[in-house]
Amino acid sequence: MALIEAFASVQLHVWFAALCLVAVVYKVAMLLEKRRVSLRNMDAFPGPPPHWLAGNVLEFKQDGTDLDRFVELGKQYPYAFPIWFGPFACFLHIHHPDYVKTLLSSTAPKDEYAYKFIESWIGEGLLVSNGQRWYRHRRLLTPAFHYDILKPYVKLMSDSTKTMLDKWERYAKTGESFELFQQVSLMTLDSIMKCAFSYDSNCQTDNGTNTYIKAVYELSDLINLRFRTFPYHNDLIFALSPHGFKHRKVCRVAHSHTAEVIRKRKETLKTVKQMEQVKAKRRNLDFLDILLFAKDENQQGLSDEDLRAEVDTFMFEGHDTTASGMSFILYSLACHPEHQRICRNEIMEVLDGKDTMDWKDLNKIPYTTMCIKESLRLYPPAPIIFRTITKPMTFVDGRSLPEGSHFCVSVYGIHRNATVWENPNVFDPLRFLPENVSKRSPHAFVPFSVGPRNCIGQNFAMNEMKIATALTLKKYELIEDPTRKPKIIPKVLLHSINGIHIKIKPIEP
Ligand code: HEM
Repeated sequence: MALIEAFASVQLHVWFAALCLVAVVYKVAMLLEKRRVSLRNMDAFPGPPPHWLAGNVLEFKQDGTDLDRFVELGKQYPYAFPIWFGPFACFLHIHHPDYVKTLLSSTAPKDEYAYKFIESWIGEGLLVSNGQRWYRHRRLLTPAFHYDILKPYVKLMSDSTKTMLDKWERYAKTGESFELFQQVSLMTLDSIMKCAFSYDSNCQTDNGTNTYIKAVYELSDLINLRFRTFPYHNDLIFALSPHGFKHRKVCRVAHSHTAEVIRKRKETLKTVKQMEQVKAKRRNLDFLDILLFAKDENQQGLSDEDLRAEVDTFMFEGHDTTASGMSFILYSLACHPEHQRICRNEIMEVLDGKDTMDWKDLNKIPYTTMCIKESLRLYPPAPIIFRTITKPMTFVDGRSLPEGSHFCVSVYGIHRNATVWENPNVFDPLRFLPENVSKRSPHAFVPFSVGPRNCIGQNFAMNEMKIATALTLKKYELIEDPTRKPKIIPKVLLHSINGIHIKIKPIEP
C-alpha cells in the first residue's frame, strides 16, 4: 500500500514537472515569436544594433550621458529608430515633431508595458488609465484646473516659496554651494499639499526627513532599475526579488501618506449633509473636494480605490515634475547671468516692492516666461513618454508600423533636434518670442505633451514656476558652481545623479 502511495506521489511530481516544462517552453516560444515579429516590423527603421540578450540597454550607462547619446543616435537615424530593452521589448524611439504630431494627436493609449511599472505605486489614476475610464475621470477632474480654482493658489504658492527662500538665508550668508533639487521638491510638495488638499504638511520645516519624499526618490530608482533589467519585466520574478520586496515596502510608505490625507478630509466631511454645507459655503473648493463631490451623468462618484489612485497621481505628478522643472530653471539662470539680470529687472518692476506675487502679475513677466520655457526645452521634466498603437500608423515619410507597436517619444530628443532648433544646446530664450514660435512646428516644443493626453496640470505648473522664479530672483542672485555640473538622467522624470548645485548672494534692497 505504502509502495503504491509512494509511486503515485512520484508520478504526481513528474506530471507537475512536465506541466511546468510545457508552460516554460510555451512562454519562451511566445516570446521568441514576439521578437521575430518586432524585428520584422522594424525592418524599415534602421537603428543601433542590439545585443541579443541585453538589447541596447548596455549602451546607456546611467552616467549622465544617456540622453545625449539618444540625441547623437538621432543624428544618425533621422525621425525614429528602434531601441531594445532586453531581448523581447522593442520600442520605436521618435525624436521629430512630424512623427510626434501623428502619434500624439491620435488616441493611442499609454503603453501598458512601460506604465505598468509605475501603476503599483500610483494605481490606475489619470496618468496611466485608458479608454472609457480615462475619459470619464478626465471629465470629472478637468474642473479642478479651472482658472477660478487656480487663482487662490497664487498666495499659497508664494507662501511655500517664501518658506524655502527663508531657509536659504544661511547659504546666502556663507556663499557655500548647495543642492537645489531636494529643497525644491519639499517646496513643491508643500505647495501641492496646500493647494490641492488644503493640508499643511510642514514638510519644509520638519528637518528635511520627510518619509514621503524619500519614498518618492526610492520608487523612482526602483522603477528605473526595473525597466532596465529585463528579468524584472516579469511580475513574479520582480515580486520575489529583493528589489520587489523593497518596492512593496516603499509603496506602503507612499500609500499610507495618501491614505492619511484622504482620511483626514473624510473625517471633516462625515455626513452627506456636511458635504453639501461645505460645498455651498466654501468659495474655494480644492482638488480633493472636487474628487469627493465628483459625479458623472449617472450620479456615480469615484470609488475609494479610484480616489486613492487619483490622489497618488496628483501628489506625485503635482510635485516631482514641477520640482524637476523649477530646479533646472534656477540652475539655467545661474549659468546665464545676462538673462537672469533681465528677468530680475522685469520682476522688480512688476512687484514694485511687494514680497508676494498676485494673479494679475503672472502675465506681466514675458522675459522670465521665455526663460522658463527655454529651460523646459533644454531640461524637460518628463523626458520620455510611452504609447502603444491600437491601429496601424503611417508617418509623414511613408513608413508604417502595425497595431500593437510600442513607442517612446523622446521629448528631450525633439527639444534638442538640430534639424528643428538652431544651436540646440544653447540657452536662448528669444526662441520663444511670438514671431519665432510662429515659424516652428507646434510639436517642436512639447514639455507638457500634446493632444488628448496632454498634461492636465500645465497651467498650475506654469503658475508655480513663474511665482517661484520671480520670488527667488527678487531675493537672491543665483551663481553657477562650475565644479559641480549636473549629470542628467531619466529616472521616470528628469533628475541629476549628482544633484543640482548653485550658490546664492542676497540682493541688496
Ligand atoms: C513642469 C511641470 C509638469 C510637466 C513638465 C508635466 C508634464 C506632463 C506630461 C509630459 C504628461 C504626459 C505624460 C504621458 O503621456 O505619459 C503629463 C500628464 C499629466 N500631468 Fe503633468 N506635468 C507637470 C506638472 C503637473 C502638475 C502640477 C499636475 C497636477 C497638479 C500634473 C498632472 C498630470 C496628469 C494627471 C497627467 C495625466 C493626464 C492625462 O493623461 O489625462 N502635471 N504631464
